[in-house]
Amino acid sequence: MNKRRLLITSGLPYANGAIHLGHMVEVIQTDIFARAMRMMGHEALYMCADDTHGTPIEISATKRGIAPEQLIAEAYESHTADFKGFDIEFANYYSTNSPENKELAYFIYDKLLKAGHIREQVVKQLYSESMNRFLPDRYVKGKCPKCGAPDQYGDCCEVCKAHYDALDLAEPHCVLDGSVPVVRESHHLFVSISQLSDFLRDFADSDALLPEVRNFVKTWIDEGLQDWNISRDKPYFGFEIPGHPDKYFYVWMDAPIGYIASTANWCKKDGEDLDKYWRSKDTEIWHFIGKDIIYFHTLFWPAMLKVAGFELPHRVHAHGFLTVNGTKMSKSRGTFILARKYLEVLPAAYLRFYFANKLSTGVDDIDLNIEDFYFRVRSGLIDNLANLHNRSFSFAETKLGGKLSTARFDDDCRKLIADAKARVLEVADDYAELNTAAAIKAICEIGNAANLFYQEKAPWAYLKGDNADPEMARAIVTACAEVVRLIAIAIKPVVPDFSAKIFAQLNIGDQNLADLDNALGDNNVISNVEKTYIRPERETFDALVVEAPAEPAPAAATLPGEEKVEETKVAEIERRPLKELIDFEDFEKLDIRVGKVLACEKVKKSNKLLCSQIEIGHPDGPVQIVSGISKHYTPESMVGRYVLVVTNLKPREMFGLKSQGMVLAASDEAGLELPMTLLRVPGAQVK
Ligand code: 2FM
Ligand code: ZN
Repeated sequence: MNKRRLLITSGLPYANGAIHLGHMVEVIQTDIFARAMRMMGHEALYMCADDTHGTPIEISATKRGIAPEQLIAEAYESHTADFKGFDIEFANYYSTNSPENKELAYFIYDKLLKAGHIREQVVKQLYSESMNRFLPDRYVKGKCPKCGAPDQYGDCCEVCKAHYDALDLAEPHCVLDGSVPVVRESHHLFVSISQLSDFLRDFADSDALLPEVRNFVKTWIDEGLQDWNISRDKPYFGFEIPGHPDKYFYVWMDAPIGYIASTANWCKKDGEDLDKYWRSKDTEIWHFIGKDIIYFHTLFWPAMLKVAGFELPHRVHAHGFLTVNGTKMSKSRGTFILARKYLEVLPAAYLRFYFANKLSTGVDDIDLNIEDFYFRVRSGLIDNLANLHNRSFSFAETKLGGKLSTARFDDDCRKLIADAKARVLEVADDYAELNTAAAIKAICEIGNAANLFYQEKAPWAYLKGDNADPEMARAIVTACAEVVRLIAIAIKPVVPDFSAKIFAQLNIGDQNLADLDNALGDNNVISNVEKTYIRPERETFDALVVEAPAEPAPAAATLPGEEKVEETKVAEIERRPLKELIDFEDFEKLDIRVGKVLACEKVKKSNKLLCSQIEIGHPDGPVQIVSGISKHYTPESMVGRYVLVVTNLKPREMFGLKSQGMVLAASDEAGLELPMTLLRVPGAQVK
C-alpha cells in the first residue's frame, strides 16, 4: 500500500455562537473522511480551531462587560465539549487568537507586501459618532436605494434583492443604538487579487476542485476579481497590522491561516516539523467547507498560500447547507438545533450514521427530515447492523459458551464471508472518493445478506431434538460473527463507538483494513455481550424539533452574541440549486386543486399540526389533511379559507390521523404563508 499523508481541515467555527447541526454536517463529514483514511492505514491529521476575531465578537464582549478573550475562551470550552460529544477526533483544535497565528499572519502579509500585491486606498464609510466606530454593512439599516423598502441592511435588499453600497442607503441608522451615522474617510489596505488571476485560473483547473465548484470559481475569475480589503479600523478584535496603528486584519485574512497555526501548535507539542505538512508535496491538504465560503477558499486562500510559499490545497471540498424537514433551519420553528440540545436527546452515532447516509461529493443541500432520520437509523443501524450483532453474539455467548470455530464451515459460510470482504474493499474506495452514502449502502447490504443467512440457516434449530448438531450452529454463528467483525471495520469511521463495542466483545483489539484477513477462528471467544444501541422511540426523534416559546429563555449552550449578525454573511438570500428537472408528464401527474376548508382543529398532543376537512370537488366528498401550520394559522382562521391542495399524494398517517394530501404553503425563515387563490371554486384544477 502506498501510505499517504493527509492534513485535513473543516471551516473554523465562529467563536460568537454555539455549535449547531449545520456545523455538524461538515465536521462529521470531515471526521468520517479522516477516520476512514486512518482506517485504511494512511496518516490523516484533522486540524481545526475557533475563528475568534471580528466585530461581532468585540461587540458581544463589550456588551457583556468582559474582555473578548474571555468570550472566546468560553466558546472554546463549549465548542470542544460539543465536538467531543459527537466523537470528533481532532489532531488539534486551536484558536485563531494565538501567537502562532499572529506570527503566520504577519509572515504572509509581509510576503504579499513584498511581492507588490498590497495597495492602499482611501475609503468612505458610515461612521457612528455616538459609538466612535465605523459601521460594518450589517450594522446599518435604512431604505433600499433601489426600491425604497424600509429596514434593509447596508449591503443588500431583502425585498428587491439589489446589492448596493451602504453609503447609498436612504435614511440610514445604526442597528446597535439607532443613531444616524455620518460619512467618514479612512485609508485601507487591499490585496490586488486580480494580479494573480492567471495563477488562480490554473488552480481552478486543477484537480483540487470538483466540476461544480470549478464552474463557480471560473465564472468569478472571468467576471474580474475585485481587490480585497483586508483592513478594519479600531475598535476591532484581531491582529493589529504592522506599520498601521489602529488598523487590524479583517477576520477573513487570519481565519484560514488558523489552519496552519493549528498545525504549527500541534507540531510544537509533538516535536514535528511544520514544513513537512505545509511545504511538502508529500502531504495532501484537504479543506472541507460550506458552499458559502468557496470564494475565500478558492481565490484569496490559494493566492495567500502561493505568495507565501506554502503548498496549495490538494482538494477544496464544498458541501451544501443543512435543512431540517425541508426548510432552512429556523429558531422560531424549532429547527435550529444546537449540538448540545441534540446530544441531550439522541446518541451522536445516530446523526453520524444519518449524515453518512446522505453525504457525497455534491453541493446540494442536505435535509435532516426527522421521519426519514428515524426510519434510516431504525432500519439501517438498529434493525439491520445492530440486530445482526446482537442476535449472533448473544446466541454464541448464551448457547455455545461464546466459543467460535470454523471447523464445520461449508461453502455457504465461506461465500458469505468472501462476499462481505470484497464489499468492504469497495467501501474503502467509496470513503476515499467522499462517497459516504455509497459506503453506507454497501455496508447495509452486507448486513442484510448476513441477517438473511442467519435467518435461513436458523442456528437455533441445530440445538434441538435427537439429531442436534451444535457444531453446525457454531459454524453458522462464527460466519455471522466474522461478518460483524468485517462490518465493524468498515463502519468504524462513521460510528466508532459501535465498532469499539464489537471489538471488545470479540476480545480482539482495535482493527483496521489491514486486519481484513485476520479472520476469527477457533481461538476466539465472545464474551460480555451487550447491545450496541437500544431501539429508539419515534417520539424521541420528534423531541429534537421544539418550537420556540413566546418569550424564549436563553438556552444553556447558547453563547452570548450568538444572535448577532455576522459581518461576513453578505446576503440572506438563499440561493439553492434547482432540484433535478422533471418531464412535463411527471408534472401532470400532480393533481393540484383549489380546496375550501370546511372545518379545522388542532391535532391532540402535537404543537405543530392542524387537521382540516377540505372540499376538493371529489366525488367521495371532502378530504382530511394534516398540515404542520398551527404555529402560523389558528384553526378558526382556516375555516372558510381557499387553499391549494396536492390531492393525489398517497395517504399518510400522522398522530393516528389519516392525511389525504398536502396543502401548499410558502415558507422560509420569516414564516409560513398559504398562497391566496382568487379562483374560489373548490375542485378547480391548478396547472
Ligand atoms: O463561515 C464561517 O463560519 C467562518 N468562521 C469559517 C472560517 S473558515 C477558515 F477560513 F477559517
Ligand atoms: Zn430593494
